[in-house]
Amino acid sequence: MLPKVLLLLFFVASVRSATECLHRDFGYTGTVCVCNAEHCDTIDPITEVPSNQYISYTSNLEGLRFQREVGEFSSTENSKADVIDRSKRYQEIVGFGGAFTDATGINLDILDEQTREHLIRSYFSDEGIEYSLCRVPIGGTDFSTRSYSYLDTRNPDLELANFALQDEDYNYKIPYILQALELTENKLQFFASAWTAPAWMKTNEAPDGDGELKREYWQLWVDYFIKFFDSYKAEGIEFWGLTTGNEPSLAFFTWTGINSIGWLPWTQNKWIARNLGPTIRNSEYSDLKLMTHDDQRILLPLMFSLLADEAAASYLDGIAVHWYWNDFVPASWQTNIHELYPEKFFINTEACKGDRPWDSAVRLGSWDRGEQYARDIIENLQHWSVGWVDWNMALNTTGGPSYISNEVDAPIIVNPDTYEFYKQPMFYAIGHYSKFITKGSVRIGLPFKQNGVSIVAFDRPDEATVIVAINTGESETEIHIQDPDKGLISKVITAKSFNTIIYW
Ligand SMILES: *[C@@H]1O[C@H](CO)[C@@H](O)[C@H](O)[C@H]1NC(C)=O
Repeated sequence: MLPKVLLLLFFVASVRSATECLHRDFGYTGTVCVCNAEHCDTIDPITEVPSNQYISYTSNLEGLRFQREVGEFSSTENSKADVIDRSKRYQEIVGFGGAFTDATGINLDILDEQTREHLIRSYFSDEGIEYSLCRVPIGGTDFSTRSYSYLDTRNPDLELANFALQDEDYNYKIPYILQALELTENKLQFFASAWTAPAWMKTNEAPDGDGELKREYWQLWVDYFIKFFDSYKAEGIEFWGLTTGNEPSLAFFTWTGINSIGWLPWTQNKWIARNLGPTIRNSEYSDLKLMTHDDQRILLPLMFSLLADEAAASYLDGIAVHWYWNDFVPASWQTNIHELYPEKFFINTEACKGDRPWDSAVRLGSWDRGEQYARDIIENLQHWSVGWVDWNMALNTTGGPSYISNEVDAPIIVNPDTYEFYKQPMFYAIGHYSKFITKGSVRIGLPFKQNGVSIVAFDRPDEATVIVAINTGESETEIHIQDPDKGLISKVITAKSFNTIIYW
């Protein structure tokens, strides 16, 4: 008898191969999952279930992380159920991910090979959260160890003859981008954003501060982008998109010390129409998605003058939005703008917590921060966003490195003293979307809220349906969703939880 039981146990162990989270509580209401060379929590690759069943995955404050459960559709009627309406089709998804900042690469570099592998697999493999769209800074950002561009000559270099990628590209970005590409079987897509131009191209002759691009360099700045795409292509990395530049409004908030190029929409439109648009469309990178704004949602009204310029607007594919002041402006602004400009997509290109001076940069294990990610993502998906891209993928325990000490939080925090890293609730919050809502998924009709739970639904290109449900409430509740093609889903939603339901 005993050997049979052992055999059965062995069988059960071998099919249920997911590695459990090693919880650690740092006292911020919530826990991290600890990863090191020997251990890191994983998710079993998702496999199709019979057509009368659905799979649900739950992560919650109580400690579940992507807990898998199989449920069955019921044929009973429930008057409280919300009904999926496939005749209503909204935006098509591009992807989810984070940014290959220098800080991300530096923190990856600190780790031993095994632990580093666990970190990269956590983001990109099918036992992780399967990121699909990442941002690559053109040159340095505030999360670098110095201020730099690719052409920091003293005098103007009008031929861009001295343009050169930097050690940061070769050591901290390119190797990890290539590794991520391999893990995603080349499905991972990228978009690029520049923080600043070489100081000599700017009116204030400095990489930060209140400066714009000098008019005589409007074309040279676009030629610089082409050089960047050429240089990355030579390394085997091609791009899906380009933004017009990170947060042009920073030029008016000079005390931040963050590198930037100041643009006003009623000037940028001319640059887009005369230089950026024609040059990109006539280059070998003509298919690049061009996204403007790349700045706060609260500043979106400034966009009207730009979008009203037909010449500029004709070159633009989308509007890129950052999350930092979203508490003061509802996501419904995006729907209002979408109705005016339905052919331009919305995309979220940066977010992080811990950016306020009165708040600590890193709050290890904070469930609240995870919830804020989960809530922002669902609100944006409900209001036409085609993707949501986080900021640094990995920072250290003080939220750096950042040469201007602009430390913040990240979904993964690396501890350089112990060679461990910590997967925070923010990591699982993004994962409940990124792993399941694949490229080409289309949002379908379903009311946004039921019993206080926020809900969004997608049809995937592989004929799967994905429903994400976020409960920020303190108590357990139940949701009922009727899929006319399948039947009724009745699911208990635990307190403080992120949930994803998938079926084929
Ligand atoms: C994180 O990086 C910053 C900047 O390089 C450094 O000053 C700080 O000491 C680092 N923190 C830890 C815990 O190593």
